[in-house]
Amino acid sequence: MAFRSLDQADLAGKRALVRVDFNVPMADGAVTDDTRLRAALPTIAKLRQGGAKVILLAHFDRPKGKRVPSMSLAPVAAPLAALLGAPVLFVEDCVGDTAAAAIAGMKPGDVALLENIRFHAGEENNDPTFAAALAANGDLYVNDAFSAAHRAHASTEAIAHVLPAYAGEAMRRELDALEAALGTPRRPVLGIVGGSKVSTKLDLLNNLVSKLDKLAIGGGMANTFLFAQGHDIAASFAEKDLADTAREIIATAAAKGCELLLPIDVVVAEKMEPGVASRVCDLGQLVATDRILDAGPKSVARLIAAMDVCKTLIWNGPLGVFEIPPFDAATNAAARHAGALAKAGALTAVAGGGDTVSALNHAGAIDDFTFISTAGGAFLEWMEGKTLPGVAALEI
Ligand code: 3PG
Repeated sequence: MAFRSLDQADLAGKRALVRVDFNVPMADGAVTDDTRLRAALPTIAKLRQGGAKVILLAHFDRPKGKRVPSMSLAPVAAPLAALLGAPVLFVEDCVGDTAAAAIAGMKPGDVALLENIRFHAGEENNDPTFAAALAANGDLYVNDAFSAAHRAHASTEAIAHVLPAYAGEAMRRELDALEAALGTPRRPVLGIVGGSKVSTKLDLLNNLVSKLDKLAIGGGMANTFLFAQGHDIAASFAEKDLADTAREIIATAAAKGCELLLPIDVVVAEKMEPGVASRVCDLGQLVATDRILDAGPKSVARLIAAMDVCKTLIWNGPLGVFEIPPFDAATNAAARHAGALAKAGALTAVAGGGDTVSALNHAGAIDDFTFISTAGGAFLEWMEGKTLPGVAALEI
């Protein structure tokens, strides 16, 4: 794949529209993990050094084309400014007079963050008129949001056909690292897929079982699989209507020779709350009020043994409710083991996804991984070999 490089671009005095992914974890209006903000810093620095006005386009959450105040990007401006060591002007709309006036007032090297582009329906519709309205405020376009590149939206796809389009530093690093680590992976390859986006990930799992040698399933989605296999999951969260789909995935895995690793023991509690009484039990030992909130120690031991015989690990999604100890135990143990193997050069350990990044940070294992992608869905779609529209639109 060939992209225009910012190294050759004439940036002085230019308005650079930069698509970043600031869809960051937030609690009470504060950013709780700034990994995606830090990922954008090299591109912002390069553009500032070149004398461009840096105008950041980003989405937050899924406001579905409406202005939803709780989904404003305003809380991101201050932490970004702190990381940059420079002011970040927050602009309350991404198109129209408000945006145009704010950008006209910027000086070369200034940085502005425009309000959530998904407040406009044209964004998700990949509407050429909306893309033109965004492009009206720029001389060039840079996509630095690999993690949003699986969306064919106006700010990731259509706009790249309107302005000269460049791949940003973080985008290039992601593509280079994923290709080097996974384009032709060292086998056997183990996948870990967990987390709570069950219904979106089931389709992805179906494809992954064709590509991986082993696949461990954890988090809430494992409950759906256990239910589909006829296990009693008591009061646990599960998408029971997806049981047939889960059974199809199990059958595909068997047909393709992908070993599925589902929990064999679990940690249960009555409530998903800090300080709640919990216990470890084997499948078949749950009582009616039990909710499965983590994988148990036997499951972790088996997963660690799988890591020991594999050469590549692809990880997306935590194994339990890692935000609430002790339901972080499985994720912590698995992450630390994978990190140690990667550090010793025995395993190429690649992980991606907002929750995954937080979980590996929480486990203290993130720095030992071979590569950490900032992407969630885009990471998995790339793993399926799908064309990412936001990447394809940048190719020259
Ligand atoms: C992500 O967080 O994975 C990306 O920002 C994409 O977000 P989306 O799933 O809401 O499109």
